[in-house]
Amino acid sequence: MKGIILAGGGGTRLSPLTKITSKQLLPVYDRPMIFYPLNTLLRAGIKEILIIVSPDHPGDFLKLLGSGKEFGAKFTYEIQDKPAGLAQAFIIGADFIGKDNVTLILGDNIFEDDFSKTIKKFKSGGQVFAKKVSDPERFGVVKFNKNGRAVKIEEKPKKFLSSYAVTGLYVYDSRVVEAAEGLKPSARGELEITDLHNWYLNKGELRVDMVKGEWIDAGTFDSLLKASNWAFKRASLDQARDTRTASKKSA
Ligand code: DAU
Repeated sequence: MKGIILAGGGGTRLSPLTKITSKQLLPVYDRPMIFYPLNTLLRAGIKEILIIVSPDHPGDFLKLLGSGKEFGAKFTYEIQDKPAGLAQAFIIGADFIGKDNVTLILGDNIFEDDFSKTIKKFKSGGQVFAKKVSDPERFGVVKFNKNGRAVKIEEKPKKFLSSYAVTGLYVYDSRVVEAAEGLKPSARGELEITDLHNWYLNKGELRVDMVKGEWIDAGTFDSLLKASNWAFKRASLDQARDTRTASKKSA
């Protein structure tokens, strides 16, 4: 299993914070945002990771993350010239992916869950993860039938479809490269990841699991603050647990 972190885009919704740096390098409590999706991949045992960045600050990503050695992994970098859509990651990453399966994670998506079991047992097809949200119109949305099977996926539906957002973590087999190469840009001029989900859905090869823990798309001011507050709370809980374990050991 290879991994890709998509960390390009203009970050315009976070301007002026993103005038001098990339969104994915902004702090989320005590670390840069990209550490969270990176950690999700590393936890799943993924050791070969391609990091796709915009042409604006590639040196800063390299300085922060380096070769990957420090993380027990190997990092490769590519530049996405323009934010032409999430699905373009698989075209940029075609050589890197080769014949392997691949997990793509968005550089501004923060997950609490450990996906290692699901990712490790993945064999073929497509696998996405959904979460019930109060503002589905902001996301790719999946509709289930009464047996819990995904029947329709739409990007930012104008008419209510369901409350289940497709989160920014995707696992595909290597056919995703040819599927991405066959896509046409959408009305907003992007190669849509949702069209790739539908490519697998139409073949009856898309699995949709639920995200159980917290999921935050940290791409707006409010969600960035929410992410920092969540990380702070979690760090405090970890610290309290460490203190309890230490005091038990010394007792
Ligand atoms: O967060 C989950 C959602 O992410 C999904 O529910 C949607 O289906 C998916 O399209 C995406 O929606 P967003 O509106 O959040 O996408 P956004 O344009 O904000 O891009 C997500 C991240 O990917 C962001 O960190 C910037 C980066 N990006 C985006 C584009 C379009 C790139 O690196 N390159 C790109 O070409």
